[in-house]
Amino acid sequence: MAQAQSLSAADAQLEELEARVQTYIDTQANLDLLRFITCGSVDDGKSTLIGRMLYEAQLVFEDQVTALQQDSKRMGTQGGDIDFALLVDGLAAEREQGITIDVAYRFFSTDHRKFIVADTPGHEQYTRNMVTGASTAQVAVILVDAVNGLLTQTRRHSFITSLLGIKHVVLAVNKMDLVDYDAQIFADIVEDYQAFAKQLNFSTITAIPVSALKGDNVIERSVHTHWYSGPTLLGCLETIDISDTEGESALRLPVQWVNRPNAEFRGFAGTIVAGQVKRGEQVRILPSGEVAAVDDIVLYQDSLPAAVTGQAVTLTLDREVDVSRGDVIVAADAPCEVSDQFDASLVWMDQEEGFIGRSYWLMLGTTRINATLTDIKFKYNINTLDELSTHSFALNDIGRVTLSFDRAVPFEAYADCQGLGSFVLIDRYSHATVGAGMINFALRRAKNIHRHAHNIDKAARAALKGQKGKVLWMTGLSGSGKSTVANAVEQALHAQGRHTFILDGDNVRHGLNKDLGFTDADRVENIRRTAEVAKLMVEAGLIVITAFISPFRSERDMARVLFEEDEFVEIYLDVPLEVAEERDPKGLYKKARRGELPHFTGIDSPYEAPESAEVVLRTADTPIEACVEQVLKHV
Ligand code: ADX
Repeated sequence: MAQAQSLSAADAQLEELEARVQTYIDTQANLDLLRFITCGSVDDGKSTLIGRMLYEAQLVFEDQVTALQQDSKRMGTQGGDIDFALLVDGLAAEREQGITIDVAYRFFSTDHRKFIVADTPGHEQYTRNMVTGASTAQVAVILVDAVNGLLTQTRRHSFITSLLGIKHVVLAVNKMDLVDYDAQIFADIVEDYQAFAKQLNFSTITAIPVSALKGDNVIERSVHTHWYSGPTLLGCLETIDISDTEGESALRLPVQWVNRPNAEFRGFAGTIVAGQVKRGEQVRILPSGEVAAVDDIVLYQDSLPAAVTGQAVTLTLDREVDVSRGDVIVAADAPCEVSDQFDASLVWMDQEEGFIGRSYWLMLGTTRINATLTDIKFKYNINTLDELSTHSFALNDIGRVTLSFDRAVPFEAYADCQGLGSFVLIDRYSHATVGAGMINFALRRAKNIHRHAHNIDKAARAALKGQKGKVLWMTGLSGSGKSTVANAVEQALHAQGRHTFILDGDNVRHGLNKDLGFTDADRVENIRRTAEVAKLMVEAGLIVITAFISPFRSERDMARVLFEEDEFVEIYLDVPLEVAEERDPKGLYKKARRGELPHFTGIDSPYEAPESAEVVLRTADTPIEACVEQVLKHV
């Protein structure tokens, strides 16, 4: 009996608790959501600031506080005080190095709003993570150290913030305690910032003097800044108006996969990145341009009359149309862009430089595209936003580029649709993300240039010469014997009555490529032009022998893809550097060693040996006749 009573009491308690939790969830569900990022340089105190906000807003659980107190003692970074950075800097590695490495997302809420904050890293090298963290944010909190003032990194972060289309900036001038809460210092920093940000099109800039460490103006109004009458940081985040009216946008659904469980059902699955779709509505498939009506919208087992942005659905259409992964389903009367090149703003994120002429993978929407960086219009001087001319991008450079593809793809300007207007560039060898970009506009230059189909084609020209056109692509260090072998191979072919031509680095650099030197960027262009010339010669039915160091794998592969599979023979002249240096036919190694010839391959400029060349010639211990024989097997 007694047991039954206590059980029902427990039930009642449980019910009450459930009701309370439900009320809490309901009020929370009705709060609007603000997504923001924090950015600053190393030691600006970002993590401390977020930690302080979570802590003071009573959002930290008891056990976390205990752990924090213990951690702070152990790490000893703030004397006996609690080190709030430890609360946020979740990763062990960053604790040890004192830098924030990855984007950390935190969720928290107050009575006024829910928040998602992406804590993005401050270290120069980690701009990449900032772009990742920023892409959905509505507000950027940019930290400035009151002692140091604006840094290049502050400007870079602000610039990226503006490129990403974030309209609201909160300038948190931190460490005010270290400058005795000096109103003039604050005013000077704000003035500096406003002068710089004039060019960046932000809707609002709210500057707040804070001390993350001491808690001034983070949540509690500071007693030290009587001269400041604006909001506290949390107050600002709770009230900032982010209801920027976004215009109605048309349907954009990049197809993730074609769902075909049986012969009867064929659905196109993906997430709607803009607009909405209704059953019966006319849609257009891009790039093909075909039109069909939506037969059904499927979500799990349900059939929906309509679906909106953010929903992942499967569409079925009223007729057979060709749709594959990477296509985009759009409103029939409001198609997006389709082109094989576009103009974009690009942030470079790799240690390795990016060059005009180099090819990358471009990830856009749900597709991977082969892309070439065809032009770098300029890069920005981050401090002045002046436009500088350049042929290459280094880590953290930001500029305007042209990218072109091997086929036409659907996309949109970033300003109109973030989901179809942002992309990343991937290195085809290391698979590292080397850049992130925002599309500005489509380029149509290639649209009105059509290839002429001639009646006499490559095969006909070669047949008349009694041969098949080919490229014998020699690569190797200076002094590896490329010219010597090329010469002997041509003689042998000539004796057989073949029609040949040698393209030799030293010769081509006297004419067509006399504007090029030996920087990495120039070598890329040297090889690109040479490959194009070789292609024309193969079209003419010739057997072309090229003798270029061609030190980069990327450009040799770029040359390879211009040709049919059996037309391109890569020949690696594999000699140890010591041997080439010993030969030193032109005395260039000696010069390079004396420091009189910068960027010399093998000395202070890299050579990337081929991994799967069709022919490898070890000229150090193979007689020239044997080398020639090895090559001729492939003709
Ligand atoms: S590549 O790297 O762009 O393929 P290429 O084969 O055209 O080079 O030219 C290499 C030739 O230029 C060498 O054989 C050498 O005679 C000469 N040369 C002059 N300066 C350099 C340099 N810094 N590095 C390599 N070769 C150089």
